[in-house]
Amino acid sequence: MTAVDARSPLATELRFPHGFRWGTATAAYQIEGAATEDGRTPSIWDTFSRAPGRVRNGDTGDIAADHYHRLDEDIALLKELGVTDYRFSVAWPRVQPTGRGPAVQRGLDFYRRLVDGLLAADIRPVATLYHWDLPQELEDAGGWPQRETAQRFAEYARITAEALGDRVSTWTTLNEPWCAAFLGYASGVHAPGRTDPAAALRAAHHFNLAHGLATRALRETLPAKSEISLTLNLHSLRPLTDSAADLDAVRRIDAVGNRIFLDPVFHGRLPADLVEDTASLTDWSFVRDGDLETVSAPIDSLGINYYSPTVVAAAVPGGSPEEEASPWPGAAGRVRFVPAPGPRTAMDWPVDADGLYELLTRLRDELPGTPLMVTENGAAYDDYADPSGAVHDPERVEYLRGHLTAVHRAIGDGAPVRGYFLWSLLDNFEWAYGYSKRFGIVHVDFATQRRTVKDSARWYAEVVGRGGLD
Ligand code: NOJ
Repeated sequence: MTAVDARSPLATELRFPHGFRWGTATAAYQIEGAATEDGRTPSIWDTFSRAPGRVRNGDTGDIAADHYHRLDEDIALLKELGVTDYRFSVAWPRVQPTGRGPAVQRGLDFYRRLVDGLLAADIRPVATLYHWDLPQELEDAGGWPQRETAQRFAEYARITAEALGDRVSTWTTLNEPWCAAFLGYASGVHAPGRTDPAAALRAAHHFNLAHGLATRALRETLPAKSEISLTLNLHSLRPLTDSAADLDAVRRIDAVGNRIFLDPVFHGRLPADLVEDTASLTDWSFVRDGDLETVSAPIDSLGINYYSPTVVAAAVPGGSPEEEASPWPGAAGRVRFVPAPGPRTAMDWPVDADGLYELLTRLRDELPGTPLMVTENGAAYDDYADPSGAVHDPERVEYLRGHLTAVHRAIGDGAPVRGYFLWSLLDNFEWAYGYSKRFGIVHVDFATQRRTVKDSARWYAEVVGRGGLD
């Protein structure tokens, strides 16, 4: 290769900062299976997925990717990938089956084995405490719209940290509380399947409170150098036009989609416009004195899950009737979502890496000094193993390349992004879509549980090994 070759790695390589954290991510209910083993009790997702018509094809997480029994094989896959970090979630109903009382040792032992296996492979464990699997008993007692649930969560956080805090140094309290609150309690497409917008707003506040109370419990329990984080699926918003009406539609979605978490957690306040937009649903009196101070306890980083941007416009007068079960209290009937142009994944989500750049640079500006981590990014495609046993997934490679390039560009422009976690290590239970959508970089044949490394996994291993893109 000559010095002037435009394809020279030196000319084109996008290097990430030294110490950048390269990971993959999963969640307990989506991969573990073993739904009734070692003292685990049902979570809201067991109940929801067993109810007819809730999940595509009647799929459940009973077996999932059988990760509970294939721990060593899956850790070996991570080692082969060469990742520096692995983000997983702890199943609350394994550790504290009724949502109260002492921890179940057999449940904790599974996570001890996982964490010890990761550490032995030189992979840093990143533990998420809540990835949507609320013990059913707590839902029966009122679930997240009930204040008590936040207190229960903090207790569970404390006992889990007591058990694992000596070996897990990075902790995330909640994963995507927007989905858990608004898909779970307003549109009802996720567990527990309720359609009560006022209850969803209460749930959102109690998620914030749970995060704050758990942060306090973790600080009291964990060694001083530990990192505490929160992962949000912030919506990367674009107005269809710059008309005042479309900009107001963006404002509404930003309030109930983003600032409902960002403002309490980082500024200790509720967005005034959100309170106004939702006045016909609630007076917010469930927010008690001192709550916002608890919620805004300092954290060490913010996790962002990003898949695609959201284009928003004002609803057309006399247009489509107000959706009955909208996940957007305060915006329902006033806003319409416009499909973004361009290629789409198997989820029918647009592929648009600029949305990630826009989000990261917005947070750079709005939360100066807060380290950021992309805790999820990836794509579903209809992958299959060909007769030779290979899984070719060039679209996923292109998706990942585009998004990593966007992360690199954001870092170059001053966004303090410390890591990137690819969703997901394995094909898994994609919530209401069941097993019909494959996000893994490792293919899982759910009939045999055979794992096959996809081309994208080989590509990602090279990126990680090189510390950047060619
Ligand atoms: C976000 C969620 O955290 C994860 O559980 C889900 O599978 C991915 N997005 C893809 O939808």
